[in-house]
Parts: sequence; structure tokens; C-alpha cells
Amino acid sequence: MPNDTYNRVQSRYGDIAKQSYTTEQHEKEEQIARAFGYSAEDLGSLPEKTNLGLSCGNAVGFANMKGETILDLGSGSGIDVLLAARKVGVNGQAIGVDMTRKNTQKARVSNSKFIEATINSVPLPDSSVDCIISNCVVNLVPATDKPAVFKEIARLLKPGGRVAISDILARKPLPDHITKNMALYVGYTTMAHPAVVQPGPTVPDFVNGHESIQYPEHPSLAIPKSEDDAEIRQKYRPFILDDAAEDWVSALELTTAMDLAAQELQKSNSRLKVLVLYGSLRRRSYSRLVALEASRILSRLGCDVRVFNPEGLPVKNDTEYGHPKVQELRELSKWSDGHVWVSPEQHGNLTAVFKNQIDWIPLTTGSVRPTQGRTLAIAQVCGGSQSFNAVNSLRLLGRWMRMFTIPNQSSIPKAYTHFPDEGQPGDQRLMPSSSRDRLVDCMEEFVKYTFLMRPHLELFGDRFSEREEKRAKEEKLRLAQAAQL
Ligand SMILES: C[S@@+](CC[C@H](N)C(=O)[O-])C[C@H]1O[C@@H](n2cnc3c(N)ncnc32)[C@H](O)[C@@H]1O
Repeated sequence: MPNDTYNRVQSRYGDIAKQSYTTEQHEKEEQIARAFGYSAEDLGSLPEKTNLGLSCGNAVGFANMKGETILDLGSGSGIDVLLAARKVGVNGQAIGVDMTRKNTQKARVSNSKFIEATINSVPLPDSSVDCIISNCVVNLVPATDKPAVFKEIARLLKPGGRVAISDILARKPLPDHITKNMALYVGYTTMAHPAVVQPGPTVPDFVNGHESIQYPEHPSLAIPKSEDDAEIRQKYRPFILDDAAEDWVSALELTTAMDLAAQELQKSNSRLKVLVLYGSLRRRSYSRLVALEASRILSRLGCDVRVFNPEGLPVKNDTEYGHPKVQELRELSKWSDGHVWVSPEQHGNLTAVFKNQIDWIPLTTGSVRPTQGRTLAIAQVCGGSQSFNAVNSLRLLGRWMRMFTIPNQSSIPKAYTHFPDEGQPGDQRLMPSSSRDRLVDCMEEFVKYTFLMRPHLELFGDRFSEREEKRAKEEKLRLAQAAQL
């Protein structure tokens, strides 16, 4: 059985290497690789057919390489070897090992080399490597041979050496019909399923005497700066951080929603469009701060997030429909697939600033209903203890606007205690707590519901009473025309 497995794996990856690639496929692979943290510049530097979309993470990205010897187990077409060679420079060397000859990189750089071998028996001396990386390969080794791979890692590493592996981990035992299905076994790392994987170390504890790397980040599907509209980024994305990769949002395990989002992105190349509203004009507004945290989570999940600033929006009246802030709010609502509403609780309920924004969004403008069928996530921040009054009112408003409000909701009591005092480091950021976890839950749930609902927007806009009204109008017109004849 193991031999058969090796043959099948070899044949599968040999075939993939021989395939021809369209520009569209290439672009998709680039997109996925960027979601794993490969930079556009790095990807652009690679020879043709190096990124075959077979990675399931970015081991090079978290291996912290300097001038040293790197070994890539299962290097395939050499994406990580060539990038590692650049990183280690002339004082280092990057070596790739792969058992599939057809898949091996032809392009070389002077400090790189490729060896044809299996990763449980690598023809290199003991203690000769500083850092071992591997990207979506160990999962392909038959279970009986996996210990040999890790023994080999331990043999090859110099004392104090490091391991950085991106791979697929089963969180629970898989049923026999999956584990025994060879097509799934060899195929699940192909382009068709990039989103079911999550980068994470398969570093075993028994690599004794060597420091194993803890991966610092999970992938992000956020819109890269290079692909974003500069004006929109500046106006609507005040939540973007310079050091996002170091952030708690980047470390969240969001596998399910992330998988869904990556699959959708790959399939439709369109992001969920989310309008975020908050309900305060205070200089230090906790509803704004929470809205920005929610936006960071959504952004990492690949959403196109736009935060509306209520400053300057007139109090609802009958004359200022053409006001630029009113127009802006309405356009954003029309554009969106879903909303996130965060209101402070004031005097036991949501604020006028918040309600005023909703009052300006009409239920219908001609045949367009700018909120109907959209999803909605709601949150409140309280100065005191919990009341849930604001979220209950937000729920009523959501119903009124004919939105689908997700079941979960966030309510943060004594919100000021959830942020460091003003002027302290991180004073704009939510500190860890069950309330923060709940906000993450809500954003994750919101993304899942929005993906479910979005394709059916038209379906939910189609109502009996409206069809009747239309039918009655057409009948009246028909009778009027008949009377004229
Ligand atoms: C999913 S691809 C990943 C390739 C590369 N790491 C990347 O990220 O593009 C798996 C690669 O591992 C190789 N491979 C699988 N099992 C192997 C083994 N036991 N020894 C050596 N190479 C192996 C396959 O030939 C294939 O090139």
C-alpha cells in the first residue's frame, strides 16, 4: 500500500506539472498565494510555472531566514526554494527535495539546488541544515512513514535548527470512505480545494533538541493595498493598521469562514460588500472603536468593508435628500451586501446619531430597496452594565428595513474598561475578553450568513403582495387602454 501511495502521488504531481496554464488560472493562483501572505513582488520574481497553486500556506514567510542553509521537503516546482534562495542570499543555500522528477524546478539560481529523493530518506549529511521548511507535503506521506520523516528532520537539522511547516491537519478522525479514497488523498491539495487548508505547523514534539517555530499568523484575505482604490481606502477604511500582521485579529483562528471566503473569492472573484455604521460623534467613541475592530475582522475575511462617518449628516428632514452626506449614505447602502451596526446605549436605548442614519435610508427608491434582503449584524456598547436595550432596538430597526439580522449579537458592558486608558499603548484596541470573542463570533457568523443569502437577494425581494399590486396596476392600465379604443 505505501508504494502504491507514492506512485499515485508521483503520477498526480507529475501530471499537474505537465499541464498548460491559462492566464486566468495563473491569476487565481497568484490571488490564493497572496492570501497566504506571498507578496506580489516575490511572486512576480518567479519563473513561469513555478507557482502551481499547490501550497497550503507560506512556510517561507514565517521561517525568519537569514544567510543559512534551508531545506524544503517536497519542493515541487520550487516556489519556496527560489524565494528562500533570495532571502538567504549569497551566504546561504536553499535546497529542494522532491521525489517527482517531472515536477522539479528547471530554473536555478546559483545558491539553490534540487535533489530527487523521498523526504523520509534525504541524501544529505547529519546536522547540515539550519532550517527545514515544507509546504503541503507531509500530509501526502503514508501514515506508517510519517515518523521516518520527522526522524529525518531531526537528523538533518543542526543543533538549534528550526522547522516551519505549512500543512493540512485533520482536527478529527476522517471517515474510512475519505481516507481510503486515493483520488481524494492525492488530490486535495490541488487548486480545486485551496481553501480547505489552513497553514499551521505539523511540528512534532519529538524533534528534540531543536527549536520549533510557532507560526505567528494565519492567512488574510484582506484587499492588498496595491489592489485597493486609494480614495476608498483613505475615506472608508480607517481601520487599516500599518502592522496588521502583528495584530490579534491576524492571529484569530477563523478557519471555517476563511475557507468559505477563499472559495467564494476563487469562484466569483467578488468580495462581500459590507457597510459599517456606528452611532456617536464623540471624539473617543467606543461604538466607533468597536466598529473598527469588527471591520478588521471582516476585512481579514476578505470583505470589502466601508465605514460610514456620520459626522455632518443632517438631522432627518424633508428637504435635504440631495445633501452629499445623505447621498453618500444611500449609495453605500445600495452598494452593500450586508450591514454591521454598532450603537452606544444612551438613556437606555440606541442613540439619535445612530437612528438618524437609518432614518435617512429609504425603504424604497423607485424599484430599488436599498436594504431589503441584506444581512445585518448588530452590536451595542454600554457605559454601564448590560441592558440589551440597544441591540433589541437595532433588531427592530433591522426588521423594519427588511434585513436578515443574524441570531448572534454583541453587547459590551462598561465598554471603557475593555480598552486601555486613553494615551496608553493600544488605547484604540479591544483587550482580550469573552466580549471580544463574542464580537469575533458575530463577524464570523455574519460572513457565513451573507454568503448564504447573497445569491438569493432577488428571491427574497419577490413578494406576493407586490406581485399582486403590480398585477392590479397592469390590469387597470389594460382596462384604461381598452376604454380608449
Ligand atoms: C502539494 S505539492 C507541494 C509542492 C510545493 N511544496 C509547493 O508548495 O508548491 C506536493 C509535492 O510533494 C512531493 N512529495 C509528496 N510526497 C513526497 C515524498 N514522500 N517525498 C518527496 N516528495 C514528495 C510531490 O511530488 C509534490 O511535488
